[in-house]
Amino acid sequence: MPTTDLGLEKTLAALAITEAAQVNARFAVLRAHFDGQFQTVHDESEWKLFRDRWLGRKSGVLTLITDNWLKPATPELKRAVGQELNKLRAHVESQIEARRVAIESGTEESALLRERIDLSLAGVIRPIGSHHLICQVFQEIEDIFFSIGFSVVEGPEIETPYYNFEALNIPEFHPVRDDMDTFYLELPPSSDKKTAPTPLLLRTHTSPMQIRTMEKHKPPVRVIVPGKVYRRDNPDATHSFAFHQIEGLAVDTDITFCDFTGTIEYFVKQFFGPSVKTRFRPSYFPFTEPSVEFDVSCPFCGGTGAAAGGGTCSKCKGAAWIELFGAGMVDPAVYGFVNYDAKKVSGFAFGIGIDRLAMLKYGIDDIQVFFQNDVRFLRQFP
Ligand code: DAH
Repeated sequence: MPTTDLGLEKTLAALAITEAAQVNARFAVLRAHFDGQFQTVHDESEWKLFRDRWLGRKSGVLTLITDNWLKPATPELKRAVGQELNKLRAHVESQIEARRVAIESGTEESALLRERIDLSLAGVIRPIGSHHLICQVFQEIEDIFFSIGFSVVEGPEIETPYYNFEALNIPEFHPVRDDMDTFYLELPPSSDKKTAPTPLLLRTHTSPMQIRTMEKHKPPVRVIVPGKVYRRDNPDATHSFAFHQIEGLAVDTDITFCDFTGTIEYFVKQFFGPSVKTRFRPSYFPFTEPSVEFDVSCPFCGGTGAAAGGGTCSKCKGAAWIELFGAGMVDPAVYGFVNYDAKKVSGFAFGIGIDRLAMLKYGIDDIQVFFQNDVRFLRQFP
């Protein structure tokens, strides 16, 4: 029912209302009308229209009642109209206000619904990289040595000749220095311009950390040292100017050659599998005495030297053994550089070439792939 049909434009006299009871009935109709219409108000714009229609200052229903019914009412009816009008106003205002609150919180609810994060939606998938194979092999070897009580230390890649050579019993002009073509750093002149600056070099092996570790710690010492090393080699399938090693050092008061070979054998079997055999051959390093070279029975042909399909094994070239790394009992001369009592302590050391080991184990025939960062290669070792 439109509000205009409610007689709001007319006076009570024009509506032929003369008694209070008629006034009450009129207001009852109005209130029912309000309640009925109010049911349809659900959102903010409907609410605004409705509010203006009932409470609008100029032509809202309550204003019309005031102007057309109350003001011109006879003194007898004025009181009744006033009372009813107040009741109706209270009702209308409270209802409208209550609905405003409801709509506002409802809108908020729907806004929340809209903004809610749908956790079931597939997210943005970022490709996650993996550890480089060299890194994986480092970790594999570290885990093996952790399991027998070694810990990891790391050291500087820029070294002094003292740590890289002298303290390892490699004096100047020792022929071994020829095998380690060394990168020396170009240094600015010393501040007094008279004395030459202390030369610095890129370490050619991880062995300097033997010295640095023993300088810092009294025996017992049991460490491995993973790291990068540098030599002035021309790059080819087996040479690179940067490569990786893990140094090992164990020194205590009662370490024997048996502890040494047992430790190496444990490591090699853990790394290549329990069926491989190890052997060692005499060798020479200035910082170990005796020095050995460790070999492993070829894990690919089972140490037979023969390929499965006939012919010779391509990995060991028919030799049945593969050379692994150098090692030995620490030369007593080295203890002299770190203030260890060579009469009281003994120990062993080893230096594993990681690139070579990784190439062997994973059948890689070119060391350069480790440095090229070609994802087609890297992806093969997730
Ligand atoms: N530092 C040697 C090299 O890079 C490898 C090596 C050999 C390390 C024997 C050792 C060792 O600790 O005992 O060629």
